[in-house]
Amino acid sequence: MHPRPHFLMTDPSAFDVSYRINPWMDPGAWTAEHGVAAAAGSAALRRALVGLGAAVETIEAVRGLPDLVFPANAAVVLDGRVLLARFRYPERQGEEAMFRAVFTRLKARGLVEEIVDLPEGMLQEGAGDAIWDIGRGHFWVGFGPRSDRASVGVIRRTFDKPVVGLQLASDRFYHLDTCFCPLSGGQVLYYPAGFTAEALATIHAQVAPADRIEASEEEAAALCVNAVNLDRHVVMARPPESLRGKLAAHGYRLTEVDLAPFIRSGGAAYCMTLRLDRASAPQASILAAE
Ligand code: ARG
Repeated sequence: MHPRPHFLMTDPSAFDVSYRINPWMDPGAWTAEHGVAAAAGSAALRRALVGLGAAVETIEAVRGLPDLVFPANAAVVLDGRVLLARFRYPERQGEEAMFRAVFTRLKARGLVEEIVDLPEGMLQEGAGDAIWDIGRGHFWVGFGPRSDRASVGVIRRTFDKPVVGLQLASDRFYHLDTCFCPLSGGQVLYYPAGFTAEALATIHAQVAPADRIEASEEEAAALCVNAVNLDRHVVMARPPESLRGKLAAHGYRLTEVDLAPFIRSGGAAYCMTLRLDRASAPQASILAAE
């Protein structure tokens, strides 16, 4: 018996772009209409996940914490253990107490088992920079723009699982999840320009050429690499036609969601969610009805 995939999302009613902590964000260009579109986009993403058999828990919106809509940055979660994030920028540090309260409630309900803190002073922005690879059985850990290099070892020790560290090379692709997405079949969708030469060599050493799906500049700029993968299904922001073909060629079925307002903040499908039931042991197909 495999439980349904369980995700965390946040009510988007307090979402806006009112500060700038990455190059995607332009507070001057944000309008109330974008807020309306954000509500629709978040609802569409939720419907897409539920339509694929997932359950979604909702965090309430908090005025003044617009980026709370990106719970991938709340924590790293594996096998019921939650490593709470610490944010680089003051604009997001207020989210830490909120997310701690959220996980404390989830723990009381038995949805997670254990809450762990990072070492004092260490910065690590959650599952946005620590992505579990189901097939390979290790974390891919991004560092540089947001998370500290030393977080790689902390994640290895906290979860007692192998980790592969990848240094990020661009301000635009500041979290690993903006330029890297391991897929259930062993392929990796990634944007090479997001990585240092050393990180790219690491990826190439771990992923066979036939399993490398390179995102183009256009595909990466549409934040399509920031995708949610459930078995053979991939949920992402509206992709260019080119990417539809690449994923179909590898047997993936695409669900496209209009997430334009969130892209104005530098986020899309993957980081608008956090998988709560991520398990290290390989699971049989979680999506029964195909
Ligand atoms: N505006 C947010 C920030 O810059 C977007 C975060 C998106 N999260 C992610 N994991 N890619 O922090």
